[in-house]
Amino acid sequence: MTAQPALARPAAATGHCPVAHAVSAKIAETAPTAHHGYAPFAMTDPFPSYAALRENEPIMFDEEIGYFVVSRYVDVKAAFDNWQVFSSENAQAPVRARGAAATKIMNDGGFTAYSGLSARIPPEHTRMRAIVQKEFTPRRYKKLEPTIRENTVRLLQQMLAHPDARGDFLKDVAVDIPTITILGLLGVGPDMVSTYKKWSDSRAAMTWGDLSDDEQIPHAHNLVEYWTECLRLVSNAHEQLANGENGDNLVFDLVQAQSTGSEISDHEIASVCYSLLFAGHETTTTLISNTIRELLAHPTEWQKLIEDPSRIPAAIDETLRFSPSIVGWRRKALVDTEIGGVQIPAGSNILLLMGSANRDGDTFEQPETFDINRVNARNHLSFGFGIHYCLGNMLAKMQDRIVVEETLKAAPGLRLIDAEKVVFGDNLSFRAPTSVPVTWGEAK
Ligand code: HEM
Repeated sequence: MTAQPALARPAAATGHCPVAHAVSAKIAETAPTAHHGYAPFAMTDPFPSYAALRENEPIMFDEEIGYFVVSRYVDVKAAFDNWQVFSSENAQAPVRARGAAATKIMNDGGFTAYSGLSARIPPEHTRMRAIVQKEFTPRRYKKLEPTIRENTVRLLQQMLAHPDARGDFLKDVAVDIPTITILGLLGVGPDMVSTYKKWSDSRAAMTWGDLSDDEQIPHAHNLVEYWTECLRLVSNAHEQLANGENGDNLVFDLVQAQSTGSEISDHEIASVCYSLLFAGHETTTTLISNTIRELLAHPTEWQKLIEDPSRIPAAIDETLRFSPSIVGWRRKALVDTEIGGVQIPAGSNILLLMGSANRDGDTFEQPETFDINRVNARNHLSFGFGIHYCLGNMLAKMQDRIVVEETLKAAPGLRLIDAEKVVFGDNLSFRAPTSVPVTWGEAK
């Protein structure tokens, strides 16, 4: 881990607005009575509050979390694009401070995991990304495609065999596909799916959740196990290399690259595993769930795909825009700066709301409409933008495409049950439905 620049501790952390009074006055001037209704962890329907923020307070200091919340497309994109000023070093920091008990469990358990890439900054980030991105090749994806398709067909068949003609698309299909894929990529067998899923859930809760000190304890134990496993994957790859075996997975390839001179340490490779095991499936499970959910909630769009499956990639882009897996991502201001005319003191924490930017009417026409024919849906910011742009975006979209293709074939008559009752788990960044109930039985 490189030394981080010395930053003034943001006054935000104490719950007081660090913005100069002149700036507060500017906000007050533009929106004297606005009530945006933004609740940072409430994910079920944040979109009305996003619209209010864009309209009334596009750069708003939120006292509850101590972050400047940025909601307009132009501002979110510009901040992502300016890593010299808006550093990603806080992207993986726990939103809620770690309690004493959890900290002790993690220290005693030798937990030293650090971000794979997303919270690293240049030049360290540049060096590591150049090595890691060589592993994300179209050739590797092509090799994965048949297994992804087989798994999809098998899981769909299992779901469609339910005698009551009801299923939960999230649990029956969307959870396993990306989890098996990422485990395969890292050389772990599919029998470990539920264990890895448990660890990933703990990772999401411990970093972006709103847990009390006591609630953190079981998750702290899980994170120790998770990190120990990442270290084991790296030492296993070293053993394979020493024995002249071919590991045929990403960890093995990184260890091999290291042995032929690539500048990446074992701890860094383990950190990449720690990140990929999480980044590689949680968000893709949500993308798959949201694509099916939005298409079934908009039957005319589903029908368009039945008639012309070549529109599936466009439908995926529109889902990413309309219902992104990650609605907010963090940055830290390294120097005194401004966003949209509002002064941002050095050291301030910033939450870039991609979920809001994607519905900005200045960039997207009729932004609240889910429309798979939208011409510029691909301009969404759901994979970030700039030097940290998501490395796995093609893999996520490929898996989603395969699932939609096979679902259209196997269950064109699929329908949502109680679409309006779908609930999304509380989180600062990840907007994931807790279930996607579906039926393929006779319509009543
Ligand atoms: C729908 C699925 C996904 C979404 C919405 C998503 C979203 C994101 C976002 C928002 C970032 C941060 C971008 C920034 O800071 O500018 C990111 C970074 C990253 N993602 Fe994804 N991701 C997805 C799937 C994946 C998959 C499948 C993988 C790998 C197998 C992956 C690997 C990464 C990595 C390694 C980074 C860090 C890149 C860097 O900092 O240089 N992601 N992703």
